[in-house]
Amino acid sequence: MSHKRVAILLSGSGSNMAALVDSMTGDHPARPVLVVSNRPGAGGLDKAQARGVPTAVVDHRPFAGDRAAFETALTAVLEEARPDIICLAGFMRVLTEGFVTRWDGRVLNVHPSLLPRHRGLDTYARALAAGDTEFGATVHVVTAALDDGPILGQVHLPIHPGDTAEDLAGRLHLWEHRLYTDVLRRFAGGDTTPVRLP
Ligand code: GAR
Repeated sequence: MSHKRVAILLSGSGSNMAALVDSMTGDHPARPVLVVSNRPGAGGLDKAQARGVPTAVVDHRPFAGDRAAFETALTAVLEEARPDIICLAGFMRVLTEGFVTRWDGRVLNVHPSLLPRHRGLDTYARALAAGDTEFGATVHVVTAALDDGPILGQVHLPIHPGDTAEDLAGRLHLWEHRLYTDVLRRFAGGDTTPVRLP
């Protein structure tokens, strides 16, 4: 069996990346081939190296807001790794239609809300401010619209009275990893039936 090749893009600590990489062993239909960060100091780079996964940095700052040029550089690095699937894992840059079209239907993202609610940033605070009774995370196929695209899985958790944004983030953490690893295994095996957790 030839494994699906997975590249992972991140900007931060890379806990989701680590969970994805650690899951891709044994009978898993995919293997990690590259981790790319847009931030040179991202903690996720160390975690990837510790796991023996090749890393690259494509710093967005020299491109000074020219998203198309940044994405051309990012795509050049990715093309060398020939990924079948690209997982965004705390990758905090908006990707434009050009990039999404190039990797059509093969880019996945994890977002810390129950999409379509709370696209964008500060999702925990916004769920609390809205008086939501539940929150969670969503893994979806990336399209040109921000935090949109076909949903491949969600984890739904209750919000308790008195919860803070930190409480929600802390409770979601491990569930998010479980969701993303479950979805990637299914997706790499050609199954897009949505995962629902817990
Ligand atoms: C995760 O909670 C992920 O859902 C979020 O960033 C965090 C990255 O953590 N992603 C977004 O907000 C994307 N808009 P990690 O670096 O430890 O995986």
